[in-house]
Amino acid sequence: MLRHLLSAGDLSRDDALLVLDTAEQMALVADRPIKKLPTLRGKTVVNLFFEDSTRTRTSFEVAAKRLSADVINFSAKGSSVSKGESLKDTALTLEAMGADGIVVRHAASGAPHRLSAWVRGSVINAGDGTHEHPTQALLDAFTMRQRLGRLDGLQVAIVGDVLHSRVARSNVLLLATLGASVTLVAPPTLLPVGVEAWPAEVSYDLDAVLPKCDVVMMLRVQRERMNDAFFPTVREYSRRYGLDADRMAVMPEHAVVMHPGPMVRGMEIASEVADSLRSTIVDQVANGVSVRMAVLYLLLGGPRPVDPPSGLEVAA
Ligand code: NCD
Repeated sequence: MLRHLLSAGDLSRDDALLVLDTAEQMALVADRPIKKLPTLRGKTVVNLFFEDSTRTRTSFEVAAKRLSADVINFSAKGSSVSKGESLKDTALTLEAMGADGIVVRHAASGAPHRLSAWVRGSVINAGDGTHEHPTQALLDAFTMRQRLGRLDGLQVAIVGDVLHSRVARSNVLLLATLGASVTLVAPPTLLPVGVEAWPAEVSYDLDAVLPKCDVVMMLRVQRERMNDAFFPTVREYSRRYGLDADRMAVMPEHAVVMHPGPMVRGMEIASEVADSLRSTIVDQVANGVSVRMAVLYLLLGGPRPVDPPSGLEVAA
């Protein structure tokens, strides 16, 4: 298994399946009266969040606590980061405190990668800019396998703001590794440059894609990352790319609807769809804990590496 989890693309098929199978075991713990394992007793996990988060931060926190690790929640607001402290100095402080695992979310794509060169512990990317969010892709794959019984050969549509979505990028990479076929559906303005090189098909026409899908994953339009107009109006966007009950009706009967959250009800997804039996949205949140337990266990469960990391030489 890897030392860090920075990109879904770093996972081999065997690594990814090991995480999913381990997560199945971890899920059993959630059904016990005492939802705790002693596995990471004595280890310290730091949640380093420079960007807002509800699900991902709490999910990592619950996961680490269920494995008996000590958890430190560090958010940029209220820390010395707001006084201008750099990522490197923050990392060195955490390193000095002996963090075994650092879960990081940052607005800059590549921040977790930089961090991994400065610390001895394992770095887990919990979302970096518009780049990647590998544990989200793992929990999505887990949820698909749970609902549909397989991943190989599944037809998955990922719909909406692909341009700004680290969830889409990580899902495309992981699903390709696991043998599913992905179609990205978005207006041309919300697709990244170079998307032709991704292991995915591209379509601008949601209605043409829906009848052939096993999974439809809706994405939020990330207005906080937009400084331009990417579509004429919200109404127009919803009309062409929103999933409402009429559109859901043309999906095959067994097909499921996913969303990583946070949702904007009425924009990319109608409430009746989000709350329907075909929606996996609540399962995704529950599965997030099991998958993150598996990742923490697999990365931190072994002995601590002894090699000093590069870039950490301290002047005498
Ligand atoms: C996403 C994120 O932050 O990348 N949410 C999540 O982690 N569940 C997607 C989003 O913000 O739309």
